[in-house]
Amino acid sequence: MILDKKLEDLFLNVSCRAALSSFYYVGKKDKVSADKAAVDSMRSELNKINMKGNIVIGEGELDEAPMLYIGEKLGTNNGPNLDIAVDPLEGTNFAANNLPGALSVIAVAGKSNLLNAPETYMNKISVNTSDVNVVDLDFTVKKNIFNLAEFKNKQPNQLTACILDRPRHKEIIEELNKLKVNIKLISDGDVSGALLVTEEKYGVDIFLGIGGGPEGVLAASALDAFSCKFQGRFLFKTQSDKERAKNMGIENLEKKYELNEIISGDSIFCATGITSGDLVDGINIKGDEFISETLITHKSTGLKKIIKIKQKI
Ligand code: FBP
Repeated sequence: MILDKKLEDLFLNVSCRAALSSFYYVGKKDKVSADKAAVDSMRSELNKINMKGNIVIGEGELDEAPMLYIGEKLGTNNGPNLDIAVDPLEGTNFAANNLPGALSVIAVAGKSNLLNAPETYMNKISVNTSDVNVVDLDFTVKKNIFNLAEFKNKQPNQLTACILDRPRHKEIIEELNKLKVNIKLISDGDVSGALLVTEEKYGVDIFLGIGGGPEGVLAASALDAFSCKFQGRFLFKTQSDKERAKNMGIENLEKKYELNEIISGDSIFCATGITSGDLVDGINIKGDEFISETLITHKSTGLKKIIKIKQKI
């Protein structure tokens, strides 16, 4: 299913408005309110769109989230059947503490074309090549780095790897150090981290490590438009996490997902900056107007760019 070009502006508006709503809580040390503002705005804007929208990734399941819960139906119920993944505030710490990199993110695809990801961790890898053999989640860090260096005609010490700064990544980071790879450690925000491989200007050759599963699906939606490679494998801690995943239709809990198993067909992705970060600038309010920057992609039209727009508040 091809998504109408007109939907680009509609979803762009959704992520810009959510970013603005959250922006008012930047630096207020209140993650919950910053998130709620973005959620409320996203939900109310999505409800204005002529579509039969279905949330596949949202704020959690119905028992955990009153709004934008998985399975919630949104839109006017008049229009295309769309699956929607949202992270109204990606980087709650960033927003609460006025740190760079908070985003409002949304991805949209035709019905059943977006993986229904459980609220669990995912082991992820992304690089800017769709060549299947260069890197793989099942290769060692060393093999991935050597392969990528050879592919890019570089030495390992000329590569940069982006990874979340977490104790669980100690071994990977030690291995990268041994290989003299430059490391870009991020404190949060691995949707942005995974997307830093998309353009030379970000100076990141590979993103790897464990982060949120829903964030992995969102990043994959944009990486698809850039013809990048992404793989993900869910990690489940508890038996109840496993049960939930099974109830969501995930049969093989150890499955390694290729990008086209996470997102298929046409899709639109928007990530609007709340605070300025690596990917996009944050919200800038001027009088009764606000300026926002959004990374927008639309697979079928080839759109993949950063759009700066001015809107009335
Ligand atoms: P929130 O916006 O929900 O706080 O998530 C931020 C984030 O850094 C994600 O980008 C990442 O996928 C996840 O948290 C990592 O989880 P953890 O902090 O548990 O390692």
